[in-house]
Amino acid sequence: MSKNVVFYFSGTGNSLNVAKGIAKEMQNCEIISMSGSKNYDLQAGYETIGFVYPTYYRGEPQKVREFILNLNLKNNRDTYYYAVTTCGKYDGNALMHINHLLKRKNIHLDYGKKIVMFSNYVVAYDMRETVKEETKQSQKDLMQIIQSIKNREINKLSITEPLQEIAYRVLIRFAHNMDKYYNVSDDCIGCGICKEVCPVGNVDLDDNNKPYFRHHCEQCVACIQYCPKKAINYKNKTQSRRRYTYPGIKSAELAKMNRND
Ligand SMILES: Cc1cc2nc3c(=O)[nH]c(=O)nc-3n(C[C@H](O)[C@H](O)[C@H](O)COP(=O)(O)O)c2cc1C
Repeated sequence: MSKNVVFYFSGTGNSLNVAKGIAKEMQNCEIISMSGSKNYDLQAGYETIGFVYPTYYRGEPQKVREFILNLNLKNNRDTYYYAVTTCGKYDGNALMHINHLLKRKNIHLDYGKKIVMFSNYVVAYDMRETVKEETKQSQKDLMQIIQSIKNREINKLSITEPLQEIAYRVLIRFAHNMDKYYNVSDDCIGCGICKEVCPVGNVDLDDNNKPYFRHHCEQCVACIQYCPKKAINYKNKTQSRRRYTYPGIKSAELAKMNRND
């Protein structure tokens, strides 16, 4: 029987939903979080290997880059490789970067596609009220992508956009430390969901069960978005903004999947 794997990274569930959708439609497909183990050693014999992750600042999350750099793919050279990036609209160089990373391992990315989903970066803008419509559309688009992967389609990625590359390199440098602008209000009930959903272990709880942030943040905004009391905020910008998480991906599931339980 064929063996397949899809690696994913997700803050608010969009990319996890895509990874789950792909895995469900492929036979014998594992889902593995890229937020876990640093040096993942993959056994031989995979027929397909996929990467699913959100676009951040027109590129990929740093954790995704680090994970793929440390991933041992030596035993899977004749494998079909694909990448899917979920984004609000503009994926920039998020697919090209993965292409380059794989090239360094002498591996060819056969297929790369963006999927437009609900845009979750609450630090920069309010959440739209169109979750239902956008989810419906993205689910349709996902079905097409899954079909392409099942058909082992091969596509050519567009060339790297230099201006978007500069934007990515500048902005991604600040991501780890931007949590210094996160604050916790008295509405916090100490439930610890923020700690559970953080994919990179950046949130810890003090003696009063209040979260604090450890400055290796990916800016995935899971802690802000999943907080049931809207008690975590960025400066004074997000207090009145709506919150978003992918419908149907609850905090407990995201946390469990991220731990690779
Ligand atoms: C830090 C950050 C940066 C983002 N940058 C972009 C971007 O450059 N282009 C875009 O279209 N969407 C951008 N988004 C939106 C996300 O890519 C999109 O909502 C994604 O589907 C979220 O995936 P997730 O739910 O799996 O975390 C950004 C979101 C975050 C949190």
